[in-house]
This record gives sequence, structure tokens and C-alpha cells, in this order.
Amino acid sequence: MLAVHGLRKAFGERVLFDVPELHIGRGQAVVLTGINGAGKSTLMRMLAGLEPAPGAQVTLDGTAMPLTPYPAALRARIAYVHQHPYLFRTSVRANIAYGLKASGLKAHDVAARVDAALAWAGIEGICETPPHRLSGGEIQRVALARAWALDPDLLLLDEPTSNLDGAAREQVIALVGDLVTKGKSLLMICHDRDLIALPGITRWKLSEGRLTVRAPQAKAEAEPAGRA
Ligand SMILES: Nc1ncnc2c1ncn2[C@@H]1O[C@H](COP(=O)(O)OP(=O)(O)OP(=O)(O)O)[C@@H](O)[C@H]1O
Ligand SMILES: [Mg+2]
Repeated sequence: MLAVHGLRKAFGERVLFDVPELHIGRGQAVVLTGINGAGKSTLMRMLAGLEPAPGAQVTLDGTAMPLTPYPAALRARIAYVHQHPYLFRTSVRANIAYGLKASGLKAHDVAARVDAALAWAGIEGICETPPHRLSGGEIQRVALARAWALDPDLLLLDEPTSNLDGAAREQVIALVGDLVTKGKSLLMICHDRDLIALPGITRWKLSEGRLTVRAPQAKAEAEPAGRA
């Protein structure tokens, strides 16, 4: 679905990464790992159009174009979820509806899509809570619902479970697992072992400026024995 050539970031003499090419296929789920400061978030932000990527070329469904300035075709098809998502201080509903309205959808269709997103993320019960009163796990689920509602071709998630534990972490893992099962194209940065171990995930590692790719494990292999 998406190929990027010549993704490179340097600060003066220091080359953070130099990635000659990367590919994300339709329905492919990729987890990007690497030590702190390896450049994972920077790379993802380039793919999201939030960081300039001079010289990089993107090929989308066979059509090549520069990645900077960010092509409208990509903006319409990629949704990015920040590690610490920002919610407008309006309402949970309005946060999820925002991008849908901006895309020109009719009010009736926006409402139906917001309802579907609330149900998907299991957050109907908090849709009247002011966003600034939500817990970290709830904010993460609202942000995932907001991205899901847009039905993007590719989802970019930067550490969706960092700072979460217990039930909040498990709820987010379940949502990401659902995206993977449903065949959503996904690139996710994470250190969470349970997310990395999801069946069918391709692993990328960013190390010393290079990206290495490991093919997914077969489903049976990836699931630890004894687990239902
Ligand atoms: N303007 C700048 N000048 C020099 N170095 C910078 C600049 N901006 C960012 N960096 C460095 O780029 C590196 C990459 O940061 P990035 O956030 O992409 O890493 P990361 O792999 O996502 O790390 P983490 O796992 O901690 O989130 C960091 O070492 C950071 O200090
Ligand atoms: Mg990061």
C-alpha cells in the first residue's frame, strides 16, 4: 500500500537514522521497536507529516510523490495517535466527531459514526465526562476511537500502552488486537511485550540508524501454550 524511500534524519553531523526504503502492505501490522532516542517517534512523525522529511519519496498505491510537503492523499488516509493524545476541552463526542465533520460528512452520518466508535472502544459510559477529567487509559481509548472513526487506511500509534497498567493497559491491547485481527494496516511503536507478541505482527527494529525487518511469526507459534 505504502512505500517510502530515502527517509533520513540528521542533526548537523549526527545522523539519527538513514532508511533507504520501507514498505507497509495492505492489512499489514508492524511493530517498531528500538532503544530510547533511536528515532522511532521522529520516523513516525515523518510518516504522519508532522516532521519535514526532505528528499523522501512516498509511493501510495503505485503513485510516487515527495513526502514533504505532505500530500493531501496521505493526510486523508493516515491517522496518527500521539503517545500523550491531546483532547479538546469540549466533550468526548465532539472530540471524535471533529475529524469526521472536517471531512465533510453529513451531521446524521457523523453521529452514527461517533456512536459506532464509542461502542468499538467500549467508552459509551464516559462520553459525557469532560475530557480533562478522564484517566490516562480513557484518554488513550478516546484517541483510538477518534482515529478509528476516520476509517483510515493506515493507523500510526506511538506507544499506545506506555504509562498504562492493569485493566487500562489490557483494554488498549484488546483494541489494538482487534485492529490487527480485522486486517487494519498499522504501524505501532511499543515496548509492550504483549503487543509485540500479537499474532501476525511484523517487527521492525531501529538500531544505530538502521531499520531491520523481521517477518511475523506464524499464529500457532506466537501464542504461548496454555493460553485460551
Ligand atoms: N533539534 C534536535 N537536535 C539534536 N537532537 C535532537 C533534536 N531533536 C531531537 N533530537 C534527538 O533525536 C533523538 C530521537 O528522538 P525520538 O523521540 O525520535 O526517539 P524515540 O526512539 O522515539 O525515543 P523514546 O523511546 O524515548 O520515545 C533523541 O535522541 C533526541 O534527543
Ligand atoms: Mg518516542
